[in-house]
Order: sequence, then structure tokens, then C-alpha cells
Amino acid sequence: MKNNNQQNLHAFRKMKAEGTKICMVTAYDASMARCVAASDMDIILVGDSLGMVVLGYENTLQVTMGDMITHSAAVRRGAPQSFVIADMPYLSYHLSLDEAKANAAALITAGKADAVKLEGGTASRQEAIRQIVDCEVPVCGHIGLTPQSVYRFGGFRVQGKTPEAHEQLLRQAVALEKAGIFMLVLEGIPEELAREITAAVKIPTIGIGAGRYVDGQVLVYHDLLGHSTLMPKFVKQYANLDQTITSALNGYCAEVRSGAFPAAEHTYYPITEQE
Ligand code: KIV
Repeated sequence: MKNNNQQNLHAFRKMKAEGTKICMVTAYDASMARCVAASDMDIILVGDSLGMVVLGYENTLQVTMGDMITHSAAVRRGAPQSFVIADMPYLSYHLSLDEAKANAAALITAGKADAVKLEGGTASRQEAIRQIVDCEVPVCGHIGLTPQSVYRFGGFRVQGKTPEAHEQLLRQAVALEKAGIFMLVLEGIPEELAREITAAVKIPTIGIGAGRYVDGQVLVYHDLLGHSTLMPKFVKQYANLDQTITSALNGYCAEVRSGAFPAAEHTYYPITEQE
């Protein structure tokens, strides 16, 4: 979907109403974004998962506002026409509402994103969302197995399995919609709960490890393309980039060692430059 500013928010709602599934994938730099923009994808998410898949951290907690702005702006350069959501990293919206608003705005002004996403559904998150939306920044919510809560959850564990947790997530989804989110990511929750939430709200729900009955799906670029060492059970791999890349690199090494590369046609550039 080509970016047409705020009309996109209406388009996403219309897609839900019409039963057209929304496709979202993460991207973290200009070259990935260029490939995503050339595909049929509706939304690019500059996820703080970049901490794990790009920067090699164990979880997302060390990702900074600086990281998010750098990568979001790079994605925008690679995909000038795409609808881009940038994640608000850990502690960028937890400490004060003023910081939350300033950081959300920075992802729009410096990061060139169209919208931001933040995790959690408690009363303080609802207030942060209300205030960020009041600064004219569209907000996507994210509840369930929220990766920034990994220490409190005691690991990456499916959420919403007990009747109490089920009710709490359902209530939070409705409250976040009331607070003003335009879209809600549901991560790592039972399929039946995701179905109930999707029926209870008018905004589109986007699932990741939340089953079939949601309005769209999101996956991490590296996971869906087979370019990752961690492969969660809910991922379907549509390519094996690790294998393709290693085999291309080995082809290059073999030809360098055999002398097949560079051939005559590959040598002209530095020679003509130096002549
Ligand atoms: O950071 C991320 O990539 C995300 C998605 C997995 C939803 O938040």
C-alpha cells in the first residue's frame, strides 16, 4: 500500500471492515526497506526487535531512542512511500508523560515514521497513549507477550492463558482503543483470546503468534526469510537466506582462490580510474 498519510489509518479500518487481511513485516535499514517496498506489504514496522536480530542483544531492553531514530530514518530513505511504524524503545515512555510525548514526536520528526508503537495496556500506558495521540501522533498498541516485559514475565512466555489474564487482556484491548490507538498488535496469546479481542474492537488487530482470527499478521523480516538463529514456533519461513548468503560467499571465496574472480571484465574500473 502506498503511503497517503492519514488516509492510511482509514484504509486499515476499512480493510478490517471488509475482511481484507493486513500484511506487516519488520525492516531495519534502507536496503531491507527497499525490498519490502517493492513487495505487496501494507506496513513496515521498525521494531525494537532490531536489538536482537541486527545488534545481537539477548532481548530488546538495551535498544535506545538513538537506535530507533537512526534505523527508522534509514527505513524511510529505502521506502519513501511506505507506511512506517516505529517502536518506542524500553524506558522511552515509562518515566514521564512529557518524555513519552517528546520521544514519540522525535520518531516522527527525526525518524520520519508515520506512527509509533508502544507496549502494554495498564492505566499508565493508556494515559501515555492519550497524551501522545493528543500531540497528533498515531499510536499502535501492543499487548500479550510484550518483549519489553521479558524479565517481569520470567521469559518469553505465552500470555492470557488463565481466565483472569484472559479477561485482563480483553479489558485492556478495549481500553486502549478508547485511549485512541489506530491498530493493536497481539503477540503470544491463545488464538481464542485473539479472536475475542478482534471481535470486541473496531480497530484492526495484527497477530504474531496469536493464531488465525485476527485482522492481519506481522513477522520479523529475518525470521520469515530464514536469516535468524532463533526461530519461534509460530514462524513460517518463506526463504532460507542464511543458506543462500553462505553459499554465495563460498562461491566468491572459491573464485578468488581459483583466480576465476576477478575476470577481465571485472578489472576495468580501478584501472580506468587510475589511468
Ligand atoms: O519489535 C518487533 O519486531 C515487534 C513485532 C514482533 C511485533 O514488536
